[in-house]
Amino acid sequence: MAVILAIETSCDETACALLDSERGLLAEQIYSQWRRHAAYGGVVPEMASRDHLARLLPMVDAILKEQPRPTAIAYTAGPGLAGALLTGAATAQALALAWRLPVIAVNHLAGHLLSPLLLATPPIFPYLALLVSGGHTQLWLVEGGAQYRCLGDTLDDAAGEAFDKSAVLLGLGYPGGARLERLAATGDESALTLPSPAQNRYDFSFSGLKTAVRRAVDKGYQKADIAAAFQRAVAHGLARQVRQAVADCGVTQVAVVGGVAQNKYLYQVLAAACAEQQAACIAPHKRHCGDNAAMIAVAARYGEPTAAGGFDVYPRWNPDTLPDAIADGNKLK
Ligand code: KG4
Ligand code: ZN
Repeated sequence: MAVILAIETSCDETACALLDSERGLLAEQIYSQWRRHAAYGGVVPEMASRDHLARLLPMVDAILKEQPRPTAIAYTAGPGLAGALLTGAATAQALALAWRLPVIAVNHLAGHLLSPLLLATPPIFPYLALLVSGGHTQLWLVEGGAQYRCLGDTLDDAAGEAFDKSAVLLGLGYPGGARLERLAATGDESALTLPSPAQNRYDFSFSGLKTAVRRAVDKGYQKADIAAAFQRAVAHGLARQVRQAVADCGVTQVAVVGGVAQNKYLYQVLAAACAEQQAACIAPHKRHCGDNAAMIAVAARYGEPTAAGGFDVYPRWNPDTLPDAIADGNKLK
């Protein structure tokens, strides 16, 4: 039996979770720093690191209350902000040394890809995963817990970034994804047509869409109509690539993961596209769409336990590759 304590500090969410291999998720906490960064229109890395440091140990203490002792400690080792990653990595390594436990360095994107496994009825491998967050827009074929193939990627901005930048253009402030969704619900999506982000076979590009939003604002269209037309263009563009990938890969399950997966309109469009092809559309629980530690604990089950000690973080790390330091590391098994 394994009890994994997981720590996530890759960006502006401080999170911890305790996962039992048999009983499932025992405890978790997520603290989002977004209010601190809102005034700056984006995440300020140094502020994020300092806030992680202040919150992490009290949070670990809180989730371990009246729980079984962990048998391993997992942490996000990349990709993400170097300083923010270091706070979680150093905390995990120090606790593991003190408690004589193995550590598991986890890829944040692998965490998102496997986040649907936290559901009561999890998908079965292989499944397709559309990862839409503030930093990524990628289409992955998830063949196993440690086997993922990237089919498509964004050529410029990420979907969440496009939501955030368009929200600023519409005067909604930062981060504006959820606010843009609320405004869009009051608008007419066919008042104007905006360009699709779908490119090539499975790729995406959001720069043209962002420029079109700016032009529509300048032309004086209703803000709610622009928001609705933007959301329609994004959702249908993403759905087009998903439909193509479902047909090509012959999968029957599609997971939509990452912060933008909280968008209900997007989920409905994707679910309808999947239904046309007899595929199920799956989204994790709302709190497991954005950054969280439960998904890091789930991914750790497929990771490599190593002895605590020297460590590194990997601000740019694709989940389909293993950093050399981990591949050659001090393997326990
Ligand atoms: O996964 P996440 O919490 O952080 C990253 O790892 O990037 O994603 C945050 C992104 C932000 O860009 C935010 O605006 C977007 O997710 N987001 C939404 C919604 N809620 C959050 N975008 C569209 N509709 C939403 N309801
Ligand atoms: Zn993330």
